[in-house]
Amino acid sequence: MTFEIKERDAAGRLCKFTTKHGTVKTPNLMPVINPNKMLITPGEMKKLFGTEIVITNSYIIKKDEKLNEKALKQGVHKLIDFDGPIMTDSGTFQSYVYGDIKIDPIDIVRFQRDIGSDIGTILDVFGTPDQTKKEAERGVKETVARAKKSIPEKGDMFLACTVQGSVYPDLREKCAKELSNINADFFPIGGVVPLMENQRYTDLVKCILSAKKSLNPSKPVHLFGAGHPLMFSLAVALGCDFFDSSAYAKYAQDGRMIFLWGTESLETLTELPCCCPVCSKFTASDLKQLDKNERMRQLGLHNLYVSFSEMKTIRTAISEGWLWELVEQRTSSNPYLLDALRELRKKENKIWLEKFEPTSRNTAMFYTGNHTIHRPIISRYHKRLLARYKQTFDTTVIFPEGNKPYSIYYADRIKKIFAKRKVNLIVNSNLGPVPIELDEMYPLAQSVFPKKTDKETEEESKRVFDDFLKNKKVVIWKDGKVDLKTDKLKQKNIIDMDFIRISAVSNMQFGKGSSKALFGGRLKIVKSKNTGKIRNVYCDVEHILSMRAEDGLFTLKACGAKRLHKFFKKPKLRVVINNDAVPFVKEGKSVFAKFVVECDPELRPYDECLIVDEKDSLIAVGRTLLNREEMMAFNHGTAVKTREAV
Ligand code: GUN
Ligand code: ZN
Repeated sequence: MTFEIKERDAAGRLCKFTTKHGTVKTPNLMPVINPNKMLITPGEMKKLFGTEIVITNSYIIKKDEKLNEKALKQGVHKLIDFDGPIMTDSGTFQSYVYGDIKIDPIDIVRFQRDIGSDIGTILDVFGTPDQTKKEAERGVKETVARAKKSIPEKGDMFLACTVQGSVYPDLREKCAKELSNINADFFPIGGVVPLMENQRYTDLVKCILSAKKSLNPSKPVHLFGAGHPLMFSLAVALGCDFFDSSAYAKYAQDGRMIFLWGTESLETLTELPCCCPVCSKFTASDLKQLDKNERMRQLGLHNLYVSFSEMKTIRTAISEGWLWELVEQRTSSNPYLLDALRELRKKENKIWLEKFEPTSRNTAMFYTGNHTIHRPIISRYHKRLLARYKQTFDTTVIFPEGNKPYSIYYADRIKKIFAKRKVNLIVNSNLGPVPIELDEMYPLAQSVFPKKTDKETEEESKRVFDDFLKNKKVVIWKDGKVDLKTDKLKQKNIIDMDFIRISAVSNMQFGKGSSKALFGGRLKIVKSKNTGKIRNVYCDVEHILSMRAEDGLFTLKACGAKRLHKFFKKPKLRVVINNDAVPFVKEGKSVFAKFVVECDPELRPYDECLIVDEKDSLIAVGRTLLNREEMMAFNHGTAVKTREAV
C-alpha cells in the first residue's frame, strides 16, 4: 500500500494513494454506486466531475444471483464499468438498517477479494450512539476479532478495518489502537451516520479525534457515510482523507438539493441558487416539471457537482494554506457545527492539533470570527513567547495595535523613545503581545484582522498579554507621549535592533539558547537594498542563516546547522536517518520517511532541522514535511526536504 503526504494544512493532508487500479489524490469523495440502479454511471461521473474512486456494496452484489455471477466471472470493475479504484463495503450498514441479516464475516471478505475489489471492508459491528458502554465494548471486541480473522484472507486487496466504539472516546481509542497493531491498510471511522443525521456534530468531532489520536497516521482515514459537503472541511482539518456519498442519490430521491449551507427542497425553491451545469440549463420550475426519473437524475448530478466542487475547494485550501479559514466559514453556517468547532478548543485537542500545524504558510492568516484566536498557530505563538522569548531591557513600553510591520509604522516613536532610554517595545496586538523585533515573523506580520474584532478575541489576547507582562516594569505610550526617565549612562550605546531581532527570532524558531549558539562571534548582517529587511547573517565570515522575506523566519545554512548541532544535545532539532540513506542525503537527495530512525518530538511540519546519522554526526540540513509521529509511521514519501549537505 502506498500512501504519501504531499502538502498539508491544519491536521489535514493532501496525499497520493496508490491502488492496483491507479493513483488517487486525497482528500477525495467516493460516490456510492448501487449496482442495481445507477442513477448516474461511474463513467459519467469520471467525465463530469473527475471522479477518481467509487464505492459499491459487496453484500448487495453477493446476494443477487446475476450480479454475483457476473462479478465473480468478470470482476467488479466490469460489473459497474469503471476502470479506476473501487472500494467495496461489507453489508455492515445493511445489517444496521434492516436488522438481522445473515452475513458471514469471512465469506464476505473473501468475496470482495475474489471480485477484485481494490479496498475491501471487514464486516464490522455497527456501534449506535444509543448503546450502553457494555454493548459498545462488545461491538468493538467483535469488530477487532473479525479484523484479525480477515487479514489472512485479504490477498492483494487492501483491507479497510473500521473503527467503532459508539460515542465512547476511550472505546474508539482502544479500537483504533488495536486495529493499528494489525496489518490493516485503511481505516474507516464507522457508526457515525446517526450522529450526522441528527446533526450531532460535536459527538462526530469527538469520534473523529479519539480515533485519529490512536490510529497509525500513515494510513488513509475514511469517514463512513459522510456525504454532505457541509462538514467535509472540518473533517479534513482533523485528518479525514476519504468520504463516501450516497447522499447525492438519497437526497435526489427525496427531491432535495445539496448546498454548502445545507439542503433545500426543490418544491419550495423558486430560484436555483447555483451555477452548475444542471442549474444553468434548467430553472426551478423546469426541474419540477421533469418526469420523476429524469428529475432525480438531474438533482443527483447537481448534488454531485456541489460535493465535488467542495472537495476541490478543500484541496486548494490545503495547498494554499487557508484550510482553517475555510473551516471557520463553513462551520459558521450551522450552529451545531459551530459547537463542534468549539470542541477543538479543549486543551487536549489543542495539544494534538498543534503537532500537525505547519510552522509557516505561504498566505496571510485571515481573521474570520471569534474562533480565529484559538487556531493552533496562535496558541503555539503564545506558548513559545512565554517559554522562549527573553526581554532585553528592564523597562517595557506598550504600543497600541497599528499597521504592519510595526517597526516601520512606529519608526518615529521608536527613535524618540530610544533617544531617551533603551526599552522593550511591545505591541498590544489583536493576537496578543508582539515584541517589536518579532514583527516580521509568521503569523504576526502575515495576519489580517478587522479594525474591531470581538469580545472573545479581546479577552484571550488580554489574558496572554497580562501573563506576558507579569512582574515587568511597564510604561504605556499615550497621546503621543511616554513618561520615561532619561537613561544618561546607557544612551550613548548604539541600540542594535538588528541583533535584537535575529536573537529573538532564533530563540522563538530554534529554541532558547540558540541565539547564543549561532551569534557568538563577529557578526555581519546583510540587508536587502530594496526593502531594508534582513537577508543574510554571517558569523565569523560563515554564512549561517538567511531570513525569508515571506515569513520572517530563518533558513538554516550548513554553517548555522553545525553551530546548533554542537550547542543542542540530541534529540533537539534532529532527524536521525538510517546509515543506508546517508550517501543519498549527502548528495542532496531528500530523506524518505522509511529511512528515519528517530526524530525530535518537538519538530513540526516545515521546520528547519538537522539531519544526522545514528551516531549523531551531522549529515545535512533540511526542512521537515512530517512531524515525528508521521516520520516514524510512514513507509512512503518524503519526510524531510534536504537543503544542503554539510
Ligand atoms: N457505512 C456507513 N457506516 C458504516 C459503518 O459503520 N460500517 C460499514 N462497514 N459501513 C458503513
Ligand atoms: Zn446546481
